[in-house]
Amino acid sequence: MASTMLKSANCSAIGAVKLDYVGLKPLKLSSNVLCVRPGSIKNVPRKLAIAACDKRDSVPIKTGMSDQECETAVVAGYIPVAPPIPPKPAAPAGTPVVPSLPLRRRPRRIRRSPALRAAFQDTSLSPANLVYPLFIHEGEENTPIGAMPGCYRLGWRHGLVEEVAKAQDVGVNSILLFPKVPDALKSSSGVEAYNENGLVPRTIRLLKDKYPDLVIYTDVALDPYSSDGHDGIVREDGVIMNDETVHQLCKQAVAQARAGADVVSPSDMMDGRVGAIRAALDAEGFQHVSIMSYTAKYASSFYGPFREALDLNPRFGDKKTYQMNPANRTEAMVEATEDEFEGADILLVTPGQPYLDIIRLLRNYFDVPVAAYQVSGEYSMIKAGGILKMIDEEKVMMESLSCFRRAGAHIILTYFALQAAKCLCAEKR
Ligand code: PBG
Repeated sequence: MASTMLKSANCSAIGAVKLDYVGLKPLKLSSNVLCVRPGSIKNVPRKLAIAACDKRDSVPIKTGMSDQECETAVVAGYIPVAPPIPPKPAAPAGTPVVPSLPLRRRPRRIRRSPALRAAFQDTSLSPANLVYPLFIHEGEENTPIGAMPGCYRLGWRHGLVEEVAKAQDVGVNSILLFPKVPDALKSSSGVEAYNENGLVPRTIRLLKDKYPDLVIYTDVALDPYSSDGHDGIVREDGVIMNDETVHQLCKQAVAQARAGADVVSPSDMMDGRVGAIRAALDAEGFQHVSIMSYTAKYASSFYGPFREALDLNPRFGDKKTYQMNPANRTEAMVEATEDEFEGADILLVTPGQPYLDIIRLLRNYFDVPVAAYQVSGEYSMIKAGGILKMIDEEKVMMESLSCFRRAGAHIILTYFALQAAKCLCAEKR
């Protein structure tokens, strides 16, 4: 086949061209044969014809013609046949016949095909953008969390270690630890928070030993350790004491850093804690440890399932004197200005999806990476909707995560991290 020639050709008109066409084959004259400009080429018999390979998926056979020979052939009128112009697809019966709209712009043009849509996608989501929050406890078994289907309090020595391996397998290398602290270790001043042998520091040491490359984020706040279930020390009259709490938080952050934490994340919303923690870390030689500040943390009802998971509902009142009013935006600017000034490395917005505007606000105004927390209530709503077959869980999950990226988040803290990363890996294949 490679040596197929158009033997019948009288080639005087095209000089030395051997009609040994690249990817072309001679055809007997038939309806699909193309014979172009025959009159313009003297002595070329009309029956000479060439056509493109008709099998669409077969690789045309090369026959050794040079570029110049190919061009000469075309100039001489031997035009290879390509598939015909496709017919216009018919509209269904009953479609109104209307003049086309005189539109200058038709945005649908770049949504026409998967390839076009992929080419013009603004933002992307990768497992590297995800941080996986994990609940740990002293127990050996994993205990399911009723309000968060698919989430468990993991045994710090077994279940947790296995979960981290699974996450790393699909490219999630960042986790955030939340401890379920035994009631007997809780106190009004939360001293267990900086016990160097407490659950969190112990777990960090174990994980760093097994997975040195794992990026470990820790929560800095007193609520898991407080007998009052508040993020700070509670005065007799119910006031949350700011500066005294910050003192405790600094000790907690240093204990976590000493165990090997990479990023400490104050979620308490006390004033001035970022600067104080930065100074405390630096004073102890932990200049390399980052601070992800819960900059805009709202007093949200979306935290309900989380508080059930760790059994840390406030013993009285709510968190509105320290967490922000969900109706406010200006305060987010105030908090972010302070946090940036005090040296926060990452600004976190919590919750996530109802607060996409705040994510975009911080992204626009501050040159510090922004994080979004898809909190427990957001997770549970998607899970519940999926379980009840009201929504397509996987699709809603992926959409919600990519919307965080569009809103401006560099990283996303999500209980879906493992599930979403599995989807992303499967998509790639
Ligand atoms: C604890 C903390 C909370 C969350 C993160 N850190 C709960 C709270 O402030 O009451 C919310 C996480 C979630 O709901 O998934 N300070």
